[in-house]
Amino acid sequence: MAENILEIKNLKKYFPVKGQNTEFVKAVDGVSLNIKRGEVLGLVGESGCGKSTLVNTVLCLTQPTEGEVIFDGKNMFSLSKKEMRETRKDIQIVFQDPFWSLNPRMIVKDIVAEPLSVQTKMNSSEISKKVEELLEMVGLPREGAYKYPHEFSGGQRQRIAIARALSLMPKLVVLDEPTSSIDVVSQAQILSLINDLKEKFNLTYIVISHDLGVVSYMSDKIAVMYLGKLVEYGETDLIFNKPMHPYTEALFAAIPDIDTDIDNIKTLEGNVPSSINPPPGCKFHTRCQFAKEICSRTEPETVILDDGRTIACHKINNTNF
Ligand SMILES: Nc1ncnc2c1ncn2[C@@H]1O[C@H](COP(=O)(O)OP(=O)(O)O)[C@@H](O)[C@H]1O
Ligand code: SF4
Ligand SMILES: [Mg+2]
Repeated sequence: MAENILEIKNLKKYFPVKGQNTEFVKAVDGVSLNIKRGEVLGLVGESGCGKSTLVNTVLCLTQPTEGEVIFDGKNMFSLSKKEMRETRKDIQIVFQDPFWSLNPRMIVKDIVAEPLSVQTKMNSSEISKKVEELLEMVGLPREGAYKYPHEFSGGQRQRIAIARALSLMPKLVVLDEPTSSIDVVSQAQILSLINDLKEKFNLTYIVISHDLGVVSYMSDKIAVMYLGKLVEYGETDLIFNKPMHPYTEALFAAIPDIDTDIDNIKTLEGNVPSSINPPPGCKFHTRCQFAKEICSRTEPETVILDDGRTIACHKINNTNF
């Protein structure tokens, strides 16, 4: 059994509502999960459910409200500045839209080389050689090193971002909506590249997507979030074959099938409630087709089932539903 590279324990991140300090957006509200070395965790849920905030808090890009994060045996929230600098090179993040995350005034070589220049003692010819290798690794021509980001397509820019993220061979790579800003054909190619690199270098990933199709394709485990809470979490195969939380079921039902007429796609009905004043009880009860009285009153406890999955729903193991 591989060891955990990351342990997230009861993590919370509340943002004060603008202009006051009595109300909070509970962006992440008590999330616990683990990732083993070499594993791919898929984090899924509708826009605004807290996926980015969860990883940004784990990476210390924003201050946690409560909870603990152990990365590679180290407590992330009590690192010294020096330890934090050291740890930074072991965790890399690839953002959704490489158009905004790549400096338009820098040539690709300097963009990809940035982590190498900051974190290693390589000289400039070693760096140039390394950058060209990295570009080749992500399927771009070596000459691309001497062009600017705007000379590339969206998919190619995402490859550049991946090359930079992998330049130091980090222990954990976070891919936040890696394909949501690019065209469908490039999306498939990028997913397959990400998969190949994972196999080749035995990487550990957190793949974030609002698209359960993307996450199921990529991941060993799936974590489903709704309004800051983890509602279902377990092995992809198990969840894919038998989603048990009503929200996960609804997400699967919303995946368009190749043969489905575009007008017949079943989507999840209703809007996500505000996370400022989320509904009491189970946060999903306003949209759940199985909701009973207890659901609007009492928050369901998180239980672990025999197959190892974690789930928070009153319907589980309850014959009255
Ligand atoms: N810096 C911030 N200040 C205030 N609210 C924020 C901030 N970042 C995110 N939020 C809020 O937290 C919730 C979760 O957002 P986010 O983590 O971006 O969701 P996702 O990545 O799943 O789309 C949303 O309601 C969002 O408006
Ligand atoms: S606890 Fe109730 S409302 Fe929430 S998902 Fe389960 S059945 Fe639906
Ligand atoms: Mg996001």
